Amino acid sequence: MLYIGVDLGTSAVKLLLMEGDGTIQKIVSREYPLYFPNPGWSEQSPEDWYEQSMEGLKELLADCDRSQVAGISFGGQMHGLVILDQDDQVIRPAILWNDGRTQEECDYLNGTIGKDKLSEYTANIAFAGFTAPKLLWVQKHEPENFARIEKIMLPKGYLAYRLSGVHCTDVSDASGMLLFDVKNRCWSKEMLDICGVREEQMAKIFESYEVVGTLLPEIAKELDLPETVKVIAGAGDNAAAAVGTGTVGDGGCNISLGTSGTIFISSEKFGVDKYNALHAFAHADGHYHLMGCMLSAASCNKWWMDEIIGTKDYAAEQAQITKLGENHVFYLPYLMGERSPHNNPNARATFIGMTMDTTRADMTQAVLEGVAFALRDSLEVAKSLGIKIERTKICGGGAKSPLWKKIIANALNLKVDVIESEEGPGLGGAMLAAVGCGEYASVEEAAAKIVRVIDTIEPDEELAAKYDARYQQFKQIYPTCKPLFDALQ
Ligand code: XUL
Repeated sequence: MLYIGVDLGTSAVKLLLMEGDGTIQKIVSREYPLYFPNPGWSEQSPEDWYEQSMEGLKELLADCDRSQVAGISFGGQMHGLVILDQDDQVIRPAILWNDGRTQEECDYLNGTIGKDKLSEYTANIAFAGFTAPKLLWVQKHEPENFARIEKIMLPKGYLAYRLSGVHCTDVSDASGMLLFDVKNRCWSKEMLDICGVREEQMAKIFESYEVVGTLLPEIAKELDLPETVKVIAGAGDNAAAAVGTGTVGDGGCNISLGTSGTIFISSEKFGVDKYNALHAFAHADGHYHLMGCMLSAASCNKWWMDEIIGTKDYAAEQAQITKLGENHVFYLPYLMGERSPHNNPNARATFIGMTMDTTRADMTQAVLEGVAFALRDSLEVAKSLGIKIERTKICGGGAKSPLWKKIIANALNLKVDVIESEEGPGLGGAMLAAVGCGEYASVEEAAAKIVRVIDTIEPDEELAAKYDARYQQFKQIYPTCKPLFDALQ
C-alpha cells in the first residue's frame, strides 16, 4: 500500500509518498508566503496551506496507482492559532509559532497566574509563540474576532479538517498550546477557564497514529482517490520528525535544523524541566518528550546567504571555511527573538568580534556556529536535569550540509547519526499513516523497520575542546546584551 506524509512547514508544504516498507517514491514541495505585518509578528493564510497542499497532492499522485493509497497523515508547524467561526470560516490570518507579539500576555500568565500553576496544569510555562497567549491577545486586541470563535485549531489540524471534515488535533501538537494537560493527555479545564474558552471550542484529541476519519467525498473526487483513504491525526512537526528519524521510545535525541532549530529528547516517562526552559510535551509514539526550540536556525543561514551576501550557492560559501574552532567572530542567532532557553522575544541577532581581517567566510562560519551554540544552550539544560545524551540523529534542510553537521557534532560534543533520509516530518507523517492503517503494530515497530543510520560523525577530541572554550565565551554574550535588547524595544 502507499502512504502520504504532509509536512506543513513555515515556508512550504512538502509532500512525500511512501511504500509500505518505507521506500520513498516521490517528494514534492509548494511554497506559500509568510507575512510580517509588524516587527516581531508572523502570520500566514490557512487558505494558502490548503490550496498548496491540494496542488502538491495532485502533483505527488500524478503517476502512481491511486487505488493503492491507504492513508494520509501530517507533521505540522506547531502552536499557530487558527480560529474558525460558526460556518467554519477562518476568522483572521493564523498567528504563527515564531510570532512575538504576546509579551504582555506571557507576563500575565507567567507572573499573575504564575509559572507554578501553569506548570501544574500543562507541564509548561508561557512562551510568546504558544497558542494560549495568542488567544488572550485576540481577546484583548480583537474582541469582535474573539467573540466569533467557534473552533480553535492548529495548522495541520486545520488541514486535516479540510480533508476529513473532522475538527481534530493530536497529543503532540496540542501540547504546544498551553491549554493541554500533557501528563493526562486531555484539555486542561483550568487553562481553558483562564483563557475564556470552552471545551466545545477545542478540537477532538487523538493519539498521533489514530485514524480521524476518511477523505471527504468531494476531496477524494478532486484528488481521484478512493473515499476509503484514511486520515490519520499526525503530529507536530518536531514529533513527526522524531518519528521519521527513529527517535522514539526512551533516551533518543534528534536535532532538527529547519526554519526553527530543535533538540528533541524522547522518553517513556512523563517529566518536566524544573527550570521550564525546555518544553515537556506528549510524543507521537504514545509517550513523552522534552524539547528545546530556537526560533531561527537554518533560517539564519538562509537570511545571511540570500538577503545579506546575496548568493544561492551555499556549498560554495561553506567551501571557503577552513579553520573550524578558530573563529574570532561570534553570532547570536536571535532574528525572531528567542524561545529556549532564554524565553525573550526582545532578543536580537548580533555579530560580535569582527576585526579588519575578518572575512566573509568567518562571518558565514559564525552563523553556522552560533546556531550550534544556541542548540547547545538547550542541551546544557537537559544535562543539568541529569539526562545523559551521547548521540543524536539530525534532520531538516540544514542537515544537508556536511560542514554544519561536523560543527554540530563538535560544538555539542555528540555523535551525530546520519540517517538515510533527512525528510523528518514528511517521512514521520507517512509512517504515522502506515501505523494508523495497520501496516505496523506501533510507531516503534515502524521506526525499527524503516529508519536506517548510514553514517556517524564522531566529534574530534581536539576540535570539541576548542569549541567548548568558544562556547564558554558565547554563553556570556546574551546575558551581557540582554539589558540592551530589552531597552531597544
Ligand atoms: C516548536 C516550534 C517550531 C515549529 C516549527 O515548538 O515552535 O519547531 O514547530 O515549525
